Amino acid sequence: MKFFVDTADIADIKEMAETGLLDGVTTNPSLIAKSGRDFMEVTREICGLVDGPVSAEVVALDHAAMMKEAETLRKIADNVCIKVPLTIDGLKTCKALTSDGTMVNVTLCFSANQALLAAKAGATFVSPFVGRHDDNGFDGMELIRDIRTIYDNYLFDTEILVASVRHTNHVLQSALIGADVMTAPPKVIKDLFKHVLTEKGIDGFMADWAKTGQSIPTS
Ligand code: E4P
Repeated sequence: MKFFVDTADIADIKEMAETGLLDGVTTNPSLIAKSGRDFMEVTREICGLVDGPVSAEVVALDHAAMMKEAETLRKIADNVCIKVPLTIDGLKTCKALTSDGTMVNVTLCFSANQALLAAKAGATFVSPFVGRHDDNGFDGMELIRDIRTIYDNYLFDTEILVASVRHTNHVLQSALIGADVMTAPPKVIKDLFKHVLTEKGIDGFMADWAKTGQSIPTS
């Protein structure tokens, strides 16, 4: 499963990239606003920090205007992935862009039928929002399972990008279901490394090692 980080914060992206485990970045208009940076400038900087796809979202709502914005965004770097909302205009834009070889992430997906439409429109990624789905009394993971079944039934190439990830169990369940990608805030990615028994084990080994009075020779 690929790991994307869901942020427009440069320091966080650098820290995640240094782990060697980062496959891409997702942003959205709210994350850009939170960064306080110029959209074009921060997106260009992010694209230079990772080799994988960097999702940059259009803000127009009609097809013609989305195409114009996408034209500007895709000139930023080769790894830009245009993010469009799951609407009729968004999917028209998705079809046009992917037919032309541009990566597209269809965002704000909340039903398996919407994911089916995104795949038919040739989306590179579809982003079901599991956290927001859970918040509204639905089961985000059931949504991922349904999309996985549909995509496998028809051998769609569209990758399931689990979004709106709130905790490590979302990541675990996504991996068990076979989602292709997950995007999470830096904190959730950092939490994946943690286990109380790992920390306890390190403390025990360090305490016993100190008793030996030895050190490992290094050059
Ligand atoms: C995905 O691409 C979105 O940017 C993101 O995951 C939304 O998450 P939120 O529901 O925490 O805002």
